[in-house]
Amino acid sequence: MKTIIEKIIEGEEVQNQQKIEAAARILRGGGLVAFPTETVYGLGADALNPAASEKIYQAKGRPSDNPLIVHIFCMEDLEKIVTQIPPMARKMAEHFWPGPLTMIFEKQSIVPMETTGGLNTVAVRMPSHPVAQDLIRAAGGYIAAPSANTSGKPSPTLAEHVAVDMDGRIPMILDGGAVGIGLESTIVDFSGEVPMVLRPGYITPDMIREVIGDIQIDPGLVAEDSNVRPKAPGMKYKHYAPEAELILVNGAQEKVQEAINHLAKEAIESGKTAGVIGTDESCCGYRYGIIKSIGTRADEDTIAKHLYGILREFDRENVDIIYSESFSTPRIGQAIMNRMLKAAGHQVIEV
Ligand code: TXA
Ligand code: MG
Repeated sequence: MKTIIEKIIEGEEVQNQQKIEAAARILRGGGLVAFPTETVYGLGADALNPAASEKIYQAKGRPSDNPLIVHIFCMEDLEKIVTQIPPMARKMAEHFWPGPLTMIFEKQSIVPMETTGGLNTVAVRMPSHPVAQDLIRAAGGYIAAPSANTSGKPSPTLAEHVAVDMDGRIPMILDGGAVGIGLESTIVDFSGEVPMVLRPGYITPDMIREVIGDIQIDPGLVAEDSNVRPKAPGMKYKHYAPEAELILVNGAQEKVQEAINHLAKEAIESGKTAGVIGTDESCCGYRYGIIKSIGTRADEDTIAKHLYGILREFDRENVDIIYSESFSTPRIGQAIMNRMLKAAGHQVIEV
């Protein structure tokens, strides 16, 4: 299959609408289209068409028990696919939709089990990216879309990343340039008695508490004990992982720098290609290996935005081992560390 990449160009409204209409036609016909959202690129299919959803699993090599997120563009459409909208979820939608929030509800039968990985619940998100919104509207209202990476790889934050993973597997990629956030949406489960965060993201537990009061955090997210399984099926898989081994180094800044310099030097001496992830503030202190800045500690959003792209760059450069600083900052830092720890298979050196 030939994959067409259609670029969305600012100011060219007529052409852009034609490209989005062509993409919507593919979706309505049961095919797949990758498209930009404000979090990461998604791999879309008609969420109400079981055969279309199945194609997503094939294209990504995704385990069939890992449910998809259904993307909508208006509240009225939510009512058609879920059995009830708890008042707290409605409040959340008023505050955070459209935006990087996914909520889980009990589903109506119109949503096929192929889309929900066999579950009776459905994850729903209303993205704020204008291309995503136009595409959902044109395609009929419901697009099932996981991140548009091969299963297990870092999520794509550029259309080029999608092309590396999906070229020849899907008919079209809508290229909307770099995404804004760079980490997947926060997932909150409203299908149980108490709302529970199943995946951390840009919208933090504190932001949610301000709107609906107390919420729980899935114990499987923070458990040291690997027998405590996360509740979102996708969170149990090794994920976001580069080809290279990733090791996080945590501690006081000078000690981290010293340790990474030492470890990278040793790796190079043993014949490996080493990579180092630092920040704008720290990079000039590194001496060995391929050194990259992930962003600035003064603005943690920059770190979230560049994480997946940097991991993919190291893959392209055939790096064997990456040493990285850790980023457990108070706000989106929780989500950054959640993804980094998974990418590192929980290898952390404390200094
Ligand atoms: O930001 C995002 O959420 C991106 C963009 C494309 O919207 N999508 C995304 O999808 O990250 P995906 O498939 O990579 O991650 C969806 C996560 C998985 O961990 C999955 O297990 C979980 O959501 N999930 C989906 N439906 C669920 C359900 N009914 N119950 C529990 N977890 C669910
Ligand atoms: Mg994903």
